[in-house]
This record gives sequence, C-alpha cells and structure tokens, in this order.
Amino acid sequence: RDTEKGTYPHFMLKEIDEQPFVMRKIIQKYQDENNHLKLDGDIRRAMQTCDRVYIIAAGTSYHAGLVGKQFIEKLSNIPVEVHVASEFSYNMPLLSDRPLFVFISQSGETADSRSVLVQIKEMGHPALTITNVPGSTLSREADYTLNLHAGPEIAVASTKAYTAQMAVLAILAVDTARAKEIALDFDPMQELAIAANAMESLTDQKETFDELVRDNFGTTRNAFFIGRSTDYFVCLEGALKLKEISYIQAEGFAGGELKHGTLALIEEDTPVIALATQENVNDSIRSNVQEVAARGANAMVISMHGLEQDTDAFVIPHVHELLTPLVGVVPMQLLAYYAALHRGCDVDKPRNLAKSVTVE
Ligand code: G6P
Repeated sequence: RDTEKGTYPHFMLKEIDEQPFVMRKIIQKYQDENNHLKLDGDIRRAMQTCDRVYIIAAGTSYHAGLVGKQFIEKLSNIPVEVHVASEFSYNMPLLSDRPLFVFISQSGETADSRSVLVQIKEMGHPALTITNVPGSTLSREADYTLNLHAGPEIAVASTKAYTAQMAVLAILAVDTARAKEIALDFDPMQELAIAANAMESLTDQKETFDELVRDNFGTTRNAFFIGRSTDYFVCLEGALKLKEISYIQAEGFAGGELKHGTLALIEEDTPVIALATQENVNDSIRSNVQEVAARGANAMVISMHGLEQDTDAFVIPHVHELLTPLVGVVPMQLLAYYAALHRGCDVDKPRNLAKSVTVE
C-alpha cells in the first residue's frame, strides 16, 4: 500500500527503496511495446516549436530542474533557463520570442510556482507541468501535464519524486530529440533501466551508509558536499536532504569554488562528501579532495565504477554519464536518513517544514 509504511520504520526509507520500481514504472508508462515513446503529441509540438525552455520550481524540484536543463540542452538542443519560483518575478529574465514554461512540482500545489504560472499565463505563454499529482492546481492550470508516476510521497524530504522528475525530464528531452531527428548515440530507455538496477544495488547496501554515518558524522555541526559539472547539482540536493532532516548545517559547493572562500570553513574533521561520477572532471574534483584533506577535513569520496580509487568511501555502479544524478543521489539520501535517525530527529516530519507549501 502506497500510503502505509508496512515494515518500514519511516516513509522516507520506504520511498528511497521504491526508486528502482518507480524508474521501471516510468519506462513502462512512457514507452510502448515497439520502443516508441508515448508522449502527448501536443507536448511534443510545444517542445518543437519553442525557442527556449524556462524551468520554474522550488526546493528539490529546482535541483531536478538543474539536471533537466542538461538533458534538454544536450539531447534536444534547445536552450534552457532554470529559475527558483519565488525569485522569478523580481528578476524576470528577458523572454525569448517563443518561450515554453515547464513547472516541476511534486505536489503541484507550491504557491511560489503557481504565482509564476498565473503571471506567465496572463502574458499568454504556454506551460507544461511535471508533477506527481495530475489533478493538482499546477496541473489543471497549465496547458499540458506529464505525470511522474512515483506514487504518493509522504515523507517531507523528497526522494523518489526527485529521481522521477529527472527520469521524466530525460524522456521529454529524448522525445524532443527524436521529433527533431537528432540522432543519439545510446539507447536512453535501456540506460534508464540500467540506472534502475544500479539504484537497486545501492538500496540493497543500506548498512554501508549507516556505518559511514556512525563512523564519520558523530556530533558534527556542519558538512559539505562538493562536486563538479553534473555532480555539483547532485551535491546541492545531497546538502538539502541532510539539512532538512538531520539539522546538520550542510552546503553543496562547486569544487572549483572552494578556493574562492569556502575553504575557510574547513576545520579538523569537518565531513566533506565529494561526488565523482564524471570522467572529464575526475582529476580536478580529486585535487579538491586533497585540498580539503590537507586542511584536516574528513573527506569521503563517492565515485563511480571505472573512475574509482582505492581510498573511496563508496563506489556506485557504472551508468551512462547523463544519468549519474539518478544514482549518485541515492547514497546522499541514505546518508541524510541515517544521520537524522542517529540524532533522534523526526525523519518523516522535520521541524518547521511542510510537504507542500501553499503560501508565498
Ligand atoms: C517544500 C518541500 C520540499 C519541496 C518543495 C517544492 O518545501 O518540503 O521537499 O522540494 O516544497 O515542492 P514541490 O511540491 O513544488 O515539488
């Protein structure tokens, strides 16, 4: 049952575990028996005719949008901007001639996102909502909806909706690429299935992350997540997860930004989690790890098979370089979960936060 914990102590753990199944469900929902994608023709046309995509979202959904930008730009060759919903109207960018607005929202009820939707509809622009709740406000008020098919997400900290958002954004990008006859040199749906299996192998190794937290997080007041390129976006999400539920002050940083200020925060034993899943930045993120380790940090590298080194704390299975965020985030979700658990925090209902924020 989707709305019951069953044998799980917390919804969050259950929802982390459900991610491989959600991936498979998304593949099944969006691909027919002839391996064709089943996207609404109107959405396909909207993507084909727009000259720029504006992604609007908040919180975790914003982090999914940052990764979605890469999918859409790299696969379907359309420029994309990603905006935090609550900031959009203060700093409205100069819009292109044929903008398409894409709202990403697990709940479909976030007031900050809705106010942008109202604003851009008044301006006459088309909108697509990517949501886990098809009958929600953002879904009803937009022209088009893509469903995440993640099943109800109960824990306040979003996990399976985030990975589902990225998967659906990847499918949207692939569908647009095919419509535009852009050839891809890999089978995206097969790669998504491989990513689902990789996720499952991680959720099967939960104890490793429990131990990592016991050994390294102790009573630390802060922690840092560093990464470059796509890994940086996943670090932003990893830090948000840890903040939300364990109340450890956590920040995600681009590896290259360390030297421009952040390094001053590194003290003896400060936990620093580095994500290293991208071949082209592997050397540079590892030199960042050395920089923080030389200043006493407790550096832990989460790398990907093929790029690993002996001292790495954890190695995720190899997946296509575009899809690493879907898998790379799982260790971070589990780290956050166990950190919160060991601190006696209310994992599913963190203080001061709401699952769906319907006020601006
Ligand atoms: C709240 C939740 C976050 C979520 C954000 C956006 O702050 O606590 O987990 O990422 O809203 O929610 P949405 O439903 O629009 O994705």
